[in-house]
This record gives sequence, C-alpha cells and structure tokens, in this order.
Amino acid sequence: MLARADGYPGDGAPSDLLEVRAVSKHYGPIQALSDLSFTVRKGEILGVAGPNGAGKSTLLAVCTGHQKSDAGDVLVEGAVLSGRPPHRFCHAGVARMFQIPQVFSSLTVRQNVEVGATFGWRPGSGSRLSVEELMRVTGLDGLGDHSSADVDLITRKRIMLAAALATGPKVLFMDEPLAGLNEEEIETLAELIATLHRTLALSIVLVEHKVRALARLSDRIMILNFGRLVRLGPPAEILADPEIIDLYLGRSYVA
Ligand SMILES: Nc1ncnc2c1ncn2[C@@H]1O[C@H](COP(=O)(O)OP(=O)(O)O)[C@@H](O)[C@H]1O
Ligand SMILES: [Mg+2]
Repeated sequence: MLARADGYPGDGAPSDLLEVRAVSKHYGPIQALSDLSFTVRKGEILGVAGPNGAGKSTLLAVCTGHQKSDAGDVLVEGAVLSGRPPHRFCHAGVARMFQIPQVFSSLTVRQNVEVGATFGWRPGSGSRLSVEELMRVTGLDGLGDHSSADVDLITRKRIMLAAALATGPKVLFMDEPLAGLNEEEIETLAELIATLHRTLALSIVLVEHKVRALARLSDRIMILNFGRLVRLGPPAEILADPEIIDLYLGRSYVA
C-alpha cells in the first residue's frame, strides 16, 4: 500500500470508515463537485470549510444518499453505497444533520428522537443508546413531553442531533451546526459535539463557517473551492497558511 505525503494510509485502509472516490456532481451548468477524493477515518472529526457555493452541502448530500453523483463512488466500510437511497446509507451507519434544522413540529421532543430510533436503526448500524439516554446526553432532559413546535434554535438542533444519533451512526455529517447561534450557544454546542464524539466513538464530518470552533474540534480540515479539494491536513497546518486564510476562510476568524 502506498503511503501519501499527508500520512493518509491510502485506499481501503482499515482505518478508513468512509471513502469518497473521484466524485463529481453537476446541477445543469454548475459543477458543484469535481473529481473529489478523500476518506473519513474511524473516530476522527474531519472539518470541511470553504466559501459559499464551494459544494459543501452537495458533498454531504452525496455522502448520505440524498443526491446521486454523476461519477465516482462513495464507500462505507468498503461497500459501495453511491446510487443507493438515503435509508441504505442510514442503515449502514451514516447519519446527517441538515443545515436548516428540521423537526416534526407536530410531535413532542421525545417522539422526534423516537422517529430516528424506529426508522433509522438496524442490526448493521452502530451501537445505540436508549431514547432517554440520548435526550440526556444531548441536553434535552425534562423536555421529552414538550411540543417541538415552539422550541428555540439550539433546542431544535439538540433534537436533530439526538434523532440522528438514535439511528446508531458510525459517521455523522453535520452541516453548519453552529450557524445562527450566539457566542455562548456556540460554546455550548461545540462542547456537546466534542463530548459526544469522545463518548460515542463516532466519526464526524463537520461543515462549519465558524473557523475557530472548527479548528478546535477537528483532527483534520479539508478546504473546498468550486467543488474541488484545495487542501487537507491538520488544523495547525491549514490555518498557518495565509493564502488559505485570505482566499477561503476570511480574515475575520483571526480576530
Ligand atoms: N439543488 C440545486 N440545484 C441547482 N444548483 C444547486 C443546487 N444545490 C446547490 N446548487 C449550486 O451548487 C453549488 C454548490 O452549492 P452547495 O453545495 O450548496 O455549496 P455550499 O454548501 O458550499 O455553500 C452552488 O453554485 C449552488 O448554487
Ligand atoms: Mg451549504
């Protein structure tokens, strides 16, 4: 097996949980993803950053079965899943938190989490906690019987997170989970993500514009632009590069 310069062990290594192999995706004339290849290692947090329109949400959609790629494959634990519907990805241990928090507002908080457990989990999925335990670890204690219709944004995010975790994921894709939160809530949710990652032995793919939080949480960061991989490496290396900061992340994060 060939070793690459960034220490990445190569195709099909046992440490790889999910592999994206030469994936391309276009919408009409827009090339959203272009010959993109990388892997998600077991147990890592892989941060993803890049300007608006870089293809981050499309990448998540392709990796979770919500969009079909035009070319290339997505493999989970060595099995090709691209072209399969979202529930097949889910049952293989792939979960997703959407950019816009979606909950069933006619259901209680507990029922929302139960939906994930009922429809998402299968014997081939990862390990799962009970619904009560999931609500406790995501900070929803005492809210089980509460209607989901009128909860605030961070609570909606907690519900989505608990519902996603109820499917027993091995890898969780999160699309800008910190968006729309104030500084204190960002701290709280970032801490929750770190704790869940530690205690549940999850791999996480974290798309995030809040670069400081991203750097703190991620084992590696991938920069995308125009659907292409610009750089992939440890946060210290990526964020030490003035060109990356200027072109892709913006100066504001340094402040
Ligand atoms: N459903 C869609 N139909 C047409 N164009 C889309 C669709 N989704 C995304 N795009 C376009 O694809 C490109 C990548 O979008 P997206 O994946 O949402 O990027 P990001 O999440 O990095 O902002 C953008 O140019 C966007 O306008
Ligand atoms: Mg997006």
